[in-house]
Amino acid sequence: MEFKEVTLVIRRQQNSTAGYDSFPVKVTPGLTVLEALILIQENQDPTLSFRYSCRGAVCGACAMMINNEIKLACRTQIRYLNAAKVKVEPLPNLPVIKDLVVEMTEFWEKYKYVKPWLQPKDEHPATERLMDEKLRVKLDPYANCILCASCYGACPVPARSGTRSFLGPAALARNFRFYADSREGGRFERLERVNSMDGLWGCDTVFKCVDFCPKDVRPTHGIVNSRKKLITGKLLRK
Ligand code: SF4
Ligand code: FES
Repeated sequence: MEFKEVTLVIRRQQNSTAGYDSFPVKVTPGLTVLEALILIQENQDPTLSFRYSCRGAVCGACAMMINNEIKLACRTQIRYLNAAKVKVEPLPNLPVIKDLVVEMTEFWEKYKYVKPWLQPKDEHPATERLMDEKLRVKLDPYANCILCASCYGACPVPARSGTRSFLGPAALARNFRFYADSREGGRFERLERVNSMDGLWGCDTVFKCVDFCPKDVRPTHGIVNSRKKLITGKLLRK
């Protein structure tokens, strides 16, 4: 059924006060949740806070809960939700600053921990450091991550008490991306750095991150492959 008008039921939060506010929105062809939020901010409530930048599924800023599923607001067309009410809430597992804006520091600190950059094994060559083409194709999905933190929001581990220090899917997937890069120096050290319950062994392997990643990165695969490489690498070193 096509709805000509829907109600956005938006989680509002400022300091310790929280609740839901409802806003009617006319549904025009192609209208996305992000565009609806912008319309509400422009015409109904200028204090509504949310984050976005590219509007085209590139910057990763607009991840949020939409009708109980984590989605990019800029890539979610309202008519495909097929609902008269659209509930919009902030990304789980991160503290709320205001309304739909979450504090990302925890996510970035964990990402930084895995040193998400190439640490080459040799001196700078005179020309580019080329990667084998077949390997590039294999690693492409990991390189497609837009750091939206949808996987972190969907992950059951940081949601549990006592497991907040878990590095999370995006960081561990990025660690695998550089581990698997043939140009990387200290590959095994990379795995050792995340060889802990806060790292590779903390993952429940329930694939929630895979389900909700908007870029098909498949972080669980990176985690499971890292575990395998760590075990076989240790055996080979014995
Ligand atoms: S792995 Fe996917 S869900 Fe996680 S931050 Fe990257 S793009 Fe977003
Ligand atoms: S606004 Fe950039 S990903 Fe949605």
